Amino acid sequence: MLGSDDKSLKKAGKALAAGKLVVIPTETVYGLGADAFNPLAVARVFEVKARPSFDPLIVHVASIDGVGRVAADFPRAARRLAEALWPGPLTMVLPKRAELPGIVTSGLDTVGIRFPAHPLARKIIEYSGSAVAAPSANPFGYISPTSARHVEKVLGGKVDFIVDGGPCAVGLESTVLDMTRDIPVLLRPGGMPLERIRDIVGEVLLCSGQNGAPAASPGQLKSHYAPRAPLYLYERGGLAEACARGARAGQAGASAFAAPGRRAAIAFDGGQGRALSATGFFERVVVLSERGDMVEAASRLFALLYELDAEDFDALYAERVQDQGLGRAINDRLYRASKK
Ligand code: TXA
Ligand code: MG
Repeated sequence: MLGSDDKSLKKAGKALAAGKLVVIPTETVYGLGADAFNPLAVARVFEVKARPSFDPLIVHVASIDGVGRVAADFPRAARRLAEALWPGPLTMVLPKRAELPGIVTSGLDTVGIRFPAHPLARKIIEYSGSAVAAPSANPFGYISPTSARHVEKVLGGKVDFIVDGGPCAVGLESTVLDMTRDIPVLLRPGGMPLERIRDIVGEVLLCSGQNGAPAASPGQLKSHYAPRAPLYLYERGGLAEACARGARAGQAGASAFAAPGRRAAIAFDGGQGRALSATGFFERVVVLSERGDMVEAASRLFALLYELDAEDFDALYAERVQDQGLGRAINDRLYRASKK
């Protein structure tokens, strides 16, 4: 475990340059970093995460100029987005430079690039003297870590260094945007709200992979970010309703409540939390944001999932949140966490 002092950051940068794996804090989630130009180090990232080889990694740079090292082209619209929204939780998919090893991009001729806002991440990348390939620092399919403690729990012993940069401010992964097409395509909703991207580039397509629409990122599998316990996801207002129905029917009326065991609920705000506690169905109710703030809710989601998983609940319950701003990313993660 390394701290945030300059000596530690230099050590982390040097370790990356020497082909080691270094977990770095970013404003979204912790990343499992390797020198993007070292195919052996990148191969270890796939191995440590048990990540399928078809799922490409994001490459992190420490300046807008750094894009030129990994991308073959930097279209005007992408440059405008970079100038307005970087550093920050936005990953842009651009044509890849031939010099970047194919293992990073799973053989694709495009590469996802991000300039993170976290000051420690930026320094470590600079000290590495290279670009840093880094997926989220979790075993494939599990919840992304938003603290060094989470990383230690799920990957401890398998990496060379973990740099502790405190809790991640955004708490959800970056928004991934395909900038290789005429109209940008949203591949993954994330920490940069779609509304802010549309303000700058206008139209953005949502991917569905159906009816000729562009498909999602190779890594956007249906089941992801999943805790061990099953998570039952309801429409807004649907969970409280299901509890009321379950109460009338003596629990067995609502199928998700029929199984015995310890139940926990994830409420969006304080009011919902109190209402769910009052049903008596849940041993524990956690609240994403007492005052109903979407940014705070996003930053706490993964940390609360880690917490509930550690307490060994048998079933988790949540409702979708409002589908705008960071709410899109929260709903996307809750949906995937609910799939097995
Ligand atoms: O916030 C983040 O993006 C974090 C931090 C560490 O930067 N990283 C992260 O990486 O979430 P990862 O590997 O867990 O997710 C990257 C996503 C995957 O769904 C992957 O399929 C997609 O980005 N992706 C990467 N390169 C791509 C490409 N060339 N084309 C399409 N999708 C790509
Ligand atoms: Mg991930």
